[in-house]
Amino acid sequence: MQPTKVAVIGCGRIANEGHLPAYRTAADAGLCTLVGICDVIPERAQQTARQYNTQAFEAVEDMITETQPEVVSITTMPSSHHHLTLHALNAGCHVLCEKPVAMNLSEAEEMVEAAEHAGRLLSICFEYRYWDESVYLYNRIAAGDLGPVHALRTWGGSIYGFPTITSFHRQASAGRGVLDHWTIHNIDLALWLLGNPEPLTASAFCHQRLARYPAGLGPSLNTIKPEAVDPEIEDFAMGFVRVEGGTVITVEANWLQPPSDRPEGWELLAERGAASISPLRVWHDHDDKWIDATPPPGTLAPCDYRMERLITGFLQALRAGKPAPVSGAEILRIQRLMDALYESAARGHEVVVTPTPLNPTEQK
Ligand SMILES: NC(=O)c1ccc[n+]([C@@H]2O[C@H](COP(=O)([O-])OP(=O)(O)OC[C@H]3O[C@@H](n4cnc5c(N)ncnc54)[C@H](O)[C@@H]3O)[C@@H](O)[C@H]2O)c1
Repeated sequence: MQPTKVAVIGCGRIANEGHLPAYRTAADAGLCTLVGICDVIPERAQQTARQYNTQAFEAVEDMITETQPEVVSITTMPSSHHHLTLHALNAGCHVLCEKPVAMNLSEAEEMVEAAEHAGRLLSICFEYRYWDESVYLYNRIAAGDLGPVHALRTWGGSIYGFPTITSFHRQASAGRGVLDHWTIHNIDLALWLLGNPEPLTASAFCHQRLARYPAGLGPSLNTIKPEAVDPEIEDFAMGFVRVEGGTVITVEANWLQPPSDRPEGWELLAERGAASISPLRVWHDHDDKWIDATPPPGTLAPCDYRMERLITGFLQALRAGKPAPVSGAEILRIQRLMDALYESAARGHEVVVTPTPLNPTEQK
């Protein structure tokens, strides 16, 4: 089988730190070949193209017409995900798009519909699902080893982690803040671990600490102008979600965390056990004593944030004629939930997360 022809839209941080190194690894394995990259900043595209020995373009349209890629990775900010996805799908490409999916549910719906109409794969970069610890815990829960899960709490963010890239400061390009740009990963992993239950209600609180205490930016105060950050870009959020089956999820998002040995994690309580990720711990509550059922150290790889597994997984799914790793139903579910969390924060009360009817062909 010939290597799959891949092109990357956007040559910013996640393209250079995630997608491009991962495509290089996949190319070394004979899975793909990088036929072009583009960026609206031409120097950026040219510099990255030299590094990856490929063609540079300024316009997506030119790149797709000239290089005829089979796969397009979209690594731009969410304000362009909708139109770039539609353009790539209409040109016959399969699309791997960065999170957050889109600016809102109606954009996400059009993206999913366009992929179905074109008969092409559309997937989203939720790389946490590929961690050894995630897969291990997913299998434990699915096998029923811990019994039904009744609560899962997750948190994410970083210490002095407010992004310095100015497009993250603008509602027009970023849409929203830390919940959408970081903790969407935590929420996606939580839903996936639980077997993709439908969210029923959402409640959230969003806060922008930097507007009140700019010094909280720490060293980034040298590069970020607090007065130029839109008020809609929250740096802290707290959410509470009820999902079908009776499980509750709490989520905490913070770009300005205090020092912590564990800036990100997942902890769940089940009827007959408990577990965590990052680091992985598994406990069985058995005959009046808690039994540590954690796999021995060194059995599983620690969580890492590289994109190799995700990119390889996407290419392998495509080449094997399998569905997209993140299904259309999952894409709509997470976008619907993110919109509901922000709506709740704006309204100051819990909101119902209304599920749209599933297309029978969509997998759960
Ligand atoms: N999956 C992850 O773990 C992860 C990590 C970091 C960022 N991200 C996501 O990736 C996205 C991009 O983040 P980033 O930090 O790389 O931003 P960035 O600003 O560094 O990169 C975006 C690049 O896209 C270019 N661009 C914008 N519009 C374009 C267009 N129409 N055509 C071609 N190029 C265009 C910009 O010039 C820029 O170089 C965000 O949605 C962010 O949330 C995901």
